Amino acid sequence: MPPLWKPESWADRLAELEARSGDLKEVPLRRDVRSLGMLLGEVLREQAGVELFNKVEELRLAAIRRREAHSEGSAKEAEDLMQAAVLGVNTLGVDQAYRLSRAFAFYFELINLAETNHRKRRRLSLQISEDGQRGDDIQRGSFRGTLRAMRRVGITAEEALAWLRRIRVIPVFTAHPTEIARRSVLLKRRRMGDFLEQLDRIPIPDEELTSLEDALTAEITALWQTDEVRSRRPTVSDEIRMGLDYYDVSIFETLPGLYQEVSAALAAEYDLHIDAAELPLLLSFGSWIGGDRDGNPYVTTEVTREAIRAARSRLLRYYDARLLETIDLLTTSAQQLPVSEELRTRLGSFLADLGTDAAQIFGQRFEFEIYRRYLFCVRSRLLRTAGITPSDHDLLETALVSLPAYCSAQELLEDLGIVRRSLAAHGGIRVAETQIDPLLLLVRTFGLHLHTLDIRQHARQHQKALEEASAWREQQPIAVPSGLSPESRDVLEAFRAIAEVKAGCSPEAIRQYVISGAATVEDILAVVWLARLGGVEVAGNGRDPGIMPVPLFESIEDLRNAPEVCRRLWTSPDYQKLLASWDNTQEVMLGYSDSNKDGGMLASTWEIFRAHRALHEVAHECGVQLRLFHGRGGTVGRGGGPTHRSIYAQPVGAFDGQIRITEQGEVLNWKYSDVVLAERNLELMIAASLDALARPDALDPDGHRSGVMRPAWEAAFDELSETSFHFYRHHILDDPEVLEFFETATPVSELEHARIGSRPSRRKGKMSLANLRAIPWVFGWTQSRLLVPAWFGVGHALGEYAEKPGGAALLREMMEEFPLFIDLIRNVEMALAKADLGIASLYASLVPDAALRERVFAKLKAEFERTLSAVLAVTGQSELLQTNQVLARSIRLRNPYVDPMSLIQVDLLRRKRAGEDTEEVNRAISGTINGISAGLRNTG
Ligand code: PGA
Repeated sequence: MPPLWKPESWADRLAELEARSGDLKEVPLRRDVRSLGMLLGEVLREQAGVELFNKVEELRLAAIRRREAHSEGSAKEAEDLMQAAVLGVNTLGVDQAYRLSRAFAFYFELINLAETNHRKRRRLSLQISEDGQRGDDIQRGSFRGTLRAMRRVGITAEEALAWLRRIRVIPVFTAHPTEIARRSVLLKRRRMGDFLEQLDRIPIPDEELTSLEDALTAEITALWQTDEVRSRRPTVSDEIRMGLDYYDVSIFETLPGLYQEVSAALAAEYDLHIDAAELPLLLSFGSWIGGDRDGNPYVTTEVTREAIRAARSRLLRYYDARLLETIDLLTTSAQQLPVSEELRTRLGSFLADLGTDAAQIFGQRFEFEIYRRYLFCVRSRLLRTAGITPSDHDLLETALVSLPAYCSAQELLEDLGIVRRSLAAHGGIRVAETQIDPLLLLVRTFGLHLHTLDIRQHARQHQKALEEASAWREQQPIAVPSGLSPESRDVLEAFRAIAEVKAGCSPEAIRQYVISGAATVEDILAVVWLARLGGVEVAGNGRDPGIMPVPLFESIEDLRNAPEVCRRLWTSPDYQKLLASWDNTQEVMLGYSDSNKDGGMLASTWEIFRAHRALHEVAHECGVQLRLFHGRGGTVGRGGGPTHRSIYAQPVGAFDGQIRITEQGEVLNWKYSDVVLAERNLELMIAASLDALARPDALDPDGHRSGVMRPAWEAAFDELSETSFHFYRHHILDDPEVLEFFETATPVSELEHARIGSRPSRRKGKMSLANLRAIPWVFGWTQSRLLVPAWFGVGHALGEYAEKPGGAALLREMMEEFPLFIDLIRNVEMALAKADLGIASLYASLVPDAALRERVFAKLKAEFERTLSAVLAVTGQSELLQTNQVLARSIRLRNPYVDPMSLIQVDLLRRKRAGEDTEEVNRAISGTINGISAGLRNTG
């Protein structure tokens, strides 16, 4: 048989890769899916037997038929087919059910890989087409596209550069428990991703095609033989490692290319020639992993110290590897070209520090290759900084070992800058650009600490600690408080650990302290007092940026009060002193998931927008530079959706250019599992921020979507939000039957068995919606295919509004021109397309109380249908996702595989609820959770 990926002709294959639109561009994706499916079939037959393979096919075809019947309008036939499938599943043994759901999950693994590969392929094709682009056809999401839009409306080069200088995008990685895949599975995926990518590097001889195919088959086999669910819950240390992996996998390598692209775009669009190394810093990174203590008892102070150490050591090891590479390559000889005096002097002073001379240290090694000698010294300092002792047999390293460590990134930058200047002055600018500039950029971005680690704790814990500590202080004003409850001791310990970190080499490694559930000024000041009690210098000084309390406003009420709370804070003279020490900057965090859980999708979206705008106004009045921190998850109900669209949807005029955004769980893998994807994602965020800051659309006389708010939209959104809020509160939060339904009709209680993250899924206390965290809330509804948090209340509000005179027309106008509304509706639409009422009704059948089941399901169903028709009406479509064919196709491709897994899951849950609470059943349920998450590309 010819190799699966062998084309009729390589020229056709090239045309597919270059295609910008139409069906042709999708052909490679279809081929990858088909070929991978065939390889999987082969592995399944070999590893699991023909019987299982046939069963998979049978269930899959039945699911396709059911969907076809449904879309042809034959509801009865669809229902019958579903019943037949249910019966088929009910007779399976637990082990068989488990293996079947694994097989289906495997299809997703492969479809996901194929889609990821396709995203990379499309990125390349876009870049190729931009290169030849003269017209207006450059994609808006690209940096160059944004620059072009700016240039078109008359923004000058100087202005463009001034806008760019204000941009700082800060992704913050968190360990929110939504990445279901194990680290070993992630590694295997990457390997397979590499093989797929190689298949696009055409032309490829047959032999190599066959060996790539074999390599893929081997990986699929290995994956089949791997446990997909962790055998133990990950520890925080595991999570720290997983978070850091993304730097090695993509981020370190991505940044230099990304800046080069920015530099090239500035040259192409504005004729501005700025070296990548001279560009303003556009990105930096943050992390919560090991610092987010809120509700996670496993984040101890020791773990926090470990997170700091591990980040630093990962970074310094990377620098070391880069330096070694540079030492190998920078062979410029003083016999060929001079070296600057500055460099020679510096080298001399290194040697003087060692009390020796060059001959003693280097002998005749690199006699004329002064740069290499110099860089060996730099490397030695770096190793010392990293605490790495040289091995005995490395004489050179040993001889240099007592060179001083770097105590700030600035020192390292200076040492590297000397090399750059010398090369630049002596005919080596090109060499400097390739060898030194990337390293300089990395050091500017990551310093010696890699990222800032935020500490987070809940306001309640601070209040308690403060009360206890104050009571103690009244009696013993001088002594360090003791006799505190364990929780309060823990709070203070955290501050002591912060103080310790800050006393070390990188005080900037911790600079934000996030307060969950912040509601009042006192909640913010509590952190200032506790920090002082723990010995932390709150104000910034030249060396240490201090620690800034960052309130996280996350209920609807708290979002509404946020501007006034901040006004009181920022006008307090004591706090103003602190602000001044932080360059008058204040960060405020907005919580998407919890506000959604509290008030529903529509009210949450609107209240966040309003809080954002009002906070900005207050900040402006108080002379404060506001940086917002958006706490978003991957799923729509947790603020998920395309990040660039949401950045652009920020209120006009209420954005200063700096933005922090959480990147969590499965999103990390989606965005950063590969250099091309990371570059695309980071570029999109930078481009969207520039777009949202410079707002070229607002200057464009013919422009749509300028985002500038019209009073009618404001009034409409107010009304929609109010209607939806009350409807949601009444029908979801205030109806105890919904919680009961949720607990029985979704696998929320089984989430723990999937061992997704280190953090428990509930806060302490009895089961209530208030202490159930947002993730399991969204997770349960996602698995049961209802995705309630993403849409409940939206249909009711839109429907009522559309009934008003002129209402429908205004909504359509907003859908044309108002970015926030567009973003909201498109996200709701995506969730509706992933939901499935038929499957959801099977989950509902798990609710034992028939009357309750009927009541709750009927109201969910009614609102789902209302939302569906309202979204279609407002978007003017006859079916969902008409304007997003890529997503529509992806969902269509996936459904036949998700559906059988849902059926299997319902059946297993039924068995478990009937008393079959065995390890096998729980393992099988976890398998289905894993598979459904992969199928929907969202966990919760
Ligand atoms: P939290 O996050 O529970 O950590 O506040 C909620 C979420 O991201 O969904």
